[in-house]
Amino acid sequence: MPEPLIGPDALVLGIETSCDETAAGVVRRGTEMLSNVIASQAELHAPYGGVVPELAARAHVERMPMVIDQALADAGVNMREIDAVAATRGPGLIGALLVGFATGKAMASALGVPFSGVHHIEGHIVACMLERNNISPPFIALIVSGGHTSLLSVRELGEYDVLGETLDDAAGEAFDKIARFLDLGYPGGPEIDKMAKRGDPDAIAFPRALSGKGLDFSFSGLKTAVVRHVRKAEAAGEHIKRADIAASFQEAVVDVQVEKTLRAARELEADTIVLGGGVAANSRLRERLKAAVEEKRIRLHVPEPNLCVDNGAMIAAAGFIRLRRGEATPLDASADAALPL
Ligand code: KG4
Ligand code: ZN
Repeated sequence: MPEPLIGPDALVLGIETSCDETAAGVVRRGTEMLSNVIASQAELHAPYGGVVPELAARAHVERMPMVIDQALADAGVNMREIDAVAATRGPGLIGALLVGFATGKAMASALGVPFSGVHHIEGHIVACMLERNNISPPFIALIVSGGHTSLLSVRELGEYDVLGETLDDAAGEAFDKIARFLDLGYPGGPEIDKMAKRGDPDAIAFPRALSGKGLDFSFSGLKTAVVRHVRKAEAAGEHIKRADIAASFQEAVVDVQVEKTLRAARELEADTIVLGGGVAANSRLRERLKAAVEEKRIRLHVPEPNLCVDNGAMIAAAGFIRLRRGEATPLDASADAALPL
């Protein structure tokens, strides 16, 4: 293995701007989180019912310096003490990515320290280590957010097999679209989660796409089924109970996620499952996964919400691992909206 580019006690600054969170965090030794500052743009995009890429990029430009200053201040460190800089390289919205990536490269260059361009999903995978040092590969990771739905086998840090991905919409995207359709506001996941508590998850048997088949996901058919169900009920003059629709929709999404994650763990004989991404905040998904692993003697780890959503600390943790492996990103590299894992 190549020589490590930073020491074991290194302080890494991590920057994340792949979507609508402007975020920065400082991590020591790869696992000790000293700060994690997240400036969400949810309010900015709410009137549009989804993230507007141009607005996201502009907001990152405005907020980036303050967020970095705050991350350094919260960590109680001076910029000169930083041993390396990491920033999300992709995947994500290209205009948004470029802001954090260019900032990270400029800081690394000015400070004369190594730079790591991090794969966003790798950040989500290692986020759990910032909470518990005793989590180590191999494990299965389910990363579900507004932009991604990935089921992964983590063999080693830095060595992953993608077991399954979404063939169309991401899980969070499906939540957001159905919430918008039901006039529940943006971001829709938390609203559906709340409303579903008052509904019957068995009220409507929505389709469980690809259930029992492979490890890929598909949510666009489910979305169409919900819309068709509501339109038909409206045409028939029936009373539409939004809570039942929310609960039944959520159950369909959760069902396939639990089924596939457990099957992946069984097939790979993994005894640990890690959950990450904004949708990991879903109360029903957490409840159902928790119940499912208890029967199977599998450990489930769901990081606290600030580590599930997009954040800079997870990017610092991933950058630390890469730089310790002797892998730095050259300063002439560019961000990549479709970066493969
Ligand atoms: O990780 P994240 O903050 O940003 C992305 O990388 O996308 O995830 C945001 C997504 C949104 O789609 C949001 O609706 C969803 O996570 N989300 C939820 C819940 N909280 C956030 N989805 C379902 N249930 C929730 N409680
Ligand atoms: Zn994410």
